[in-house]
Amino acid sequence: MNNSKGRLEVICGSMFSGKTEELMRRLGRAEYAKQNVLTIKHQIDNRKSSATILSHNGQERLAFSIDNNKENISKIIDLANKNIQVIGIDEIQFFPLEIVDVIVKLVDMGKTIIVAGLDLDFRGEPFGIMPLIMAIADSVLKLKAICVVCGKDAHHTQRIVNGVPAKYDDPIILVGAKECYEARCRNCFSIDKQAVLITPAKKYTEKNL
Ligand code: TMP
Ligand code: MG
Ligand code: ZN
Repeated sequence: MNNSKGRLEVICGSMFSGKTEELMRRLGRAEYAKQNVLTIKHQIDNRKSSATILSHNGQERLAFSIDNNKENISKIIDLANKNIQVIGIDEIQFFPLEIVDVIVKLVDMGKTIIVAGLDLDFRGEPFGIMPLIMAIADSVLKLKAICVVCGKDAHHTQRIVNGVPAKYDDPIILVGAKECYEARCRNCFSIDKQAVLITPAKKYTEKNL
């Protein structure tokens, strides 16, 4: 019997940086080696189908869709039964805190967990549970898209509503793709003034310290 612990791999970056493609590549690699793979996505992401994960280059992969319900999240442990070695989770930024404990449990059970998600939201601030997930990971790969304005590395995802940058106070979650988001570098990214007043350090202090 193998009692050794597993690992957590994080793939993050802006939209259009190839996170889902990289997740699919790693899962396909595991399947090639005859490992059993479980793929999970958040129910919120219904861009094409509620039963698949979808990359911007059109690749699809069947996936279990899970919502924010605590019981459903803990069911991932049951889904990842003894025969599953690798668990891939796309759009991890949409999940609530409970998923972090589930991931830690799965790693302790010896599973390899590979998650993909946005490190920053459209305001340029850490997205939900991502800072925590990245801190407890064994490995973190930060991918870059290319800025659609100037061609430099894109650090940000710009949300465009009616042709102008979204407001700082707009809802954080808005499912979409090219019709409302663009990859932008630090220079070409823009957000209204409020974001500058609420610095990341200030926000972190209010929440955690
Ligand atoms: P992607 O990283 O696979 O391109 O998908 C990111 C999804 O997250 C997409 O549906 C748009 C959504 N999203 C938000 O809900 N809020 C945000 O602030 C950003 C940047 C993206
Ligand atoms: Mg994706
Ligand atoms: Zn740029």
